[in-house]
Formats: sequence, structure tokens, C-alpha cells
Amino acid sequence: MQVVVLPATGWREAWRDAARRLAGAGVPPGEVAWQTGAGLFASDPLPPAGAVTVPRAFVDLADTVLCHRDPERFALLYAVLWRLRGDRGLLENPADPLVARLNGLARAVRRDSHKMRAFVRFREVPAAVPAPLSGDGSLDCGGDAPRRRFAAWFEPDHLIVARTAPFFARRFADMDWTILTPDERADFRDGVLTQGPGAPRPDLPPDASEALWATYFTNIFNPARIKLAAMRSEMPRKYWKNLPEAREIPAMLADAERRVGVMRSAQATVAPVRAAAISERYRADMPKAPDRIDSLADACRAAAHCTRCDLHCHATQTVWGEGPADAALMIVGEQPGDHEDLSGRPFVGPAGGVLDEAMAAAGVARDRVWLTNAVKHFKFTPRGKRRLHQSPDRGEIDACRWWLDLERRFIQPRLIMALGGTAAYALTGSKTGLGRRRGTVEETAAGPVMLSWHPSYILRLPDAGAAAEARAQLTEDLAQAARLLA
Ligand code: URA
Repeated sequence: MQVVVLPATGWREAWRDAARRLAGAGVPPGEVAWQTGAGLFASDPLPPAGAVTVPRAFVDLADTVLCHRDPERFALLYAVLWRLRGDRGLLENPADPLVARLNGLARAVRRDSHKMRAFVRFREVPAAVPAPLSGDGSLDCGGDAPRRRFAAWFEPDHLIVARTAPFFARRFADMDWTILTPDERADFRDGVLTQGPGAPRPDLPPDASEALWATYFTNIFNPARIKLAAMRSEMPRKYWKNLPEAREIPAMLADAERRVGVMRSAQATVAPVRAAAISERYRADMPKAPDRIDSLADACRAAAHCTRCDLHCHATQTVWGEGPADAALMIVGEQPGDHEDLSGRPFVGPAGGVLDEAMAAAGVARDRVWLTNAVKHFKFTPRGKRRLHQSPDRGEIDACRWWLDLERRFIQPRLIMALGGTAAYALTGSKTGLGRRRGTVEETAAGPVMLSWHPSYILRLPDAGAAAEARAQLTEDLAQAARLLA
């Protein structure tokens, strides 16, 4: 038996290294015992590093599952890694019990990360008072840093600080901050993000901005949308104690009925009223979710019930792909727009018009293509009667990739075209801009992906000449796709 003892910090990297070596040396899962921290045994020497290649989807899954607290995660991941050697498509079978178990762990981690992004509340640490940096929870001296400094305490279910801290680094790039949790911490100083061990709950000073948070929360609270069960699941009570705005909830609930009356008497705008009516009909007629997903039709019915991210709360309906189930070409856009959200079909609005024209000019018949989107729900900001498109974020794209993978698995297209950056990221995992990649075909674990402009990008180009050129390039790419498939 090969005993692998993973360190208390840096266990993700240590697991990856050990798993690579063990798989490379042909050590089967039954002969490996994974332990964390100081166990009864010391680690046995590992075999030398060998070459092991795994699908990109496994790397993503492992990165996520390693953040779960389940002590079995190391063995489960290694068991999948082992099976991938003989079955590269294993992860595309969500019905496989091991894959289903790992997907469940990954979902729990993503949910926890989402909660952390939503519920971390920073308190400003006065310049004269040092930031909470010491391991025993006391406040240590941070010197006289010119940047404003903040600290937050959070209690996640899983070990998600490392995967979630970059979100805060992007969002709060102009301040220094520390997020402390019982197991891990993240520090952001002068634009540099570092991680370290956790700490007990520190005594953070109250913050003047809490009153602002409370006012903001009271203002955005929509009494007509209260669903207590959903609210509790979205903002479980355990987070309330660290959320200044949560103190307002009892009073707001008590006042909700009166406010709904006031809202009813006010005139609603046309677009939301129409969307709400369609959504109500859609939900009433929605087919039951299947117990298993064994076909494209099952996947479509299951997707109608999707709650993998929050976009389903406001969108009218899930917009699933359409086209023949044996399509050789699959075209993937970003997400449904306003028209698509109301009609339930992809690419039927202005962007669809541009795509239709380009396809016709390239000799690609729309009814021979599987047309779909990287994200299946419309994301928007309401502005009076209009619903303004908002780009999906990485978490939403990652959550929706599950459906895209199912579409790919059942349709098995010979070529996929990614239109725009969101589809390119969903399909290749790379966020590099399309400037240099457009018109090229990239090899991915799931097959070749051709990259091109998104029709909405073409519509937004202010310069007519640039727009005409981009249209011609989209047509050229479609024609090239048709040639590759011929
Ligand atoms: N934009 C997209 O990416 N997809 C659609 O379906 C419509 C607009």
C-alpha cells in the first residue's frame, strides 16, 4: 500500500503531483491510501514523475472538487483519473456513479464560492489600527500603508478561499484587504494576492458603510418576489450574523404586504409584464424533469428546470439549442437576448438576423446546424420597458458548461463554431481575446473549435467599414467551416 500524506496547506498541488506520479507509474487506486495533515503514517516515497495527460474537463473538475471538505475527495478523484486512462470520455457520462458523485461535490463547492462572493462584507480597518494579520486572531501592525485597508470574516462550508479570492482581487483592486476564515486566509496588498492559514474570528471594528449597505438592501428589496424558502436557501441564516443588511429582513418582511399593494397600483412597464406572462405560461406547461438523462430530449427537458446559477430567477425561460440531432456543425453563441428569452428559441433577434445573412451568403443551411448558446438563460438589467443585455460572468458560464457538454455529447458535431469571447471561453477554456484567434480552428479535448466574431459585436461596431469587414469575416469563417466538413 502506498501511503500519501498531503500537507495541511498546499494539498491541492501536492495531490496533483502525487496523482500524476502514481498514475504514471501504474499504481492502481486500491493500492493508494490518501491522508491529510499529520496522520499515523509518513508519506511513502513517490515514484518519479511520468507523462500523464488528462482531458481539460478533468483538470477543471479536480480543481473544484479538491476544495471540498469530503476526506474521500482525493481517492475519488484518483479513481476517476485512473479510469480516464482507458476511457477518455468518462466525464461526459453524468450517469456514471463516480462521475455523478464528483459532479455533486463540484456543485457544492461552486455554490459555496457563489455564497462567499455574495456574502463577504469588508469592514474598514482604520489606518492607525493595524489589519488583522496574526494567526491568533489579534490585530497586528501593518505600518502606514497609503491604501485604504479592509478586513472580513467569513465561514465557508468548504476550502474555497484560494479559488474565490481572485474574484475579490479583481473587484476590489484599489484597496488592500484580508479575508479570514477558520481554515484559510487571503491577503491582498499593493495588488499582490497571497494565501495563508486560517485564524480564529478577529474583533473587527464596526463600519460606517454598514448603514449604507442596509439602506441599499432595503431599497432593492422587492416585496412582490418574496419566496421565503428560496430566500432562506439563497441567504441561509448562518450568514446573517455577518451581514449588516440582514438585520433589516424582519422589518421588511413585516412591511411587504403593504408595499406589494402600492406596487400593484402603480403601472407596470410593458416588457416585464409580457415576460412575466410568458414565463408563467412556460412554467405551467413545463414538462416534468426526467429521472435520468439518456438522450438529447431528456437533456432539453432537464435544462428547462435548471437552477445551476441565479440567472434562472429573472429570465423568462431556458433557451435550449435547436437543429437536427445529427448536425455536423454546431454553432455556439453567448446567451439568449431579449427576443430569444421571450420566444424560447436561439438567434431569432437582431443578432440572429446577422447570423442568418452570413450563413446564407456562406451556403450554410440554418436547418442543418445545431444552434445554441454557452449560457442558456438571458442575463439583463431592467431599465424601464427595456431589458439591457449583460454579459454572463465566468461562474455563470462555468455552471452552464454542463448543458453545453451534454449537447455536444448527444449531437457529436464534427466541428463547433464559437461566436464571440463567451463561447470561446466556454469551449476552449481560454479567455484570450478573439483578435488573433478569429478564423482559426483550435483543438480541444472535445474536438475542433473554430472561432469567429459574435453577430452582436458586429452590430455594435460604430464604424460602418469595420462592421462590413467583420460581417465578411464571419461569412468567410462559416464558408471555411462548410469546406472543412465537406
Ligand atoms: N446572442 C446570442 O449569443 N445568442 C442568441 O441566441 C441571441 C443573441
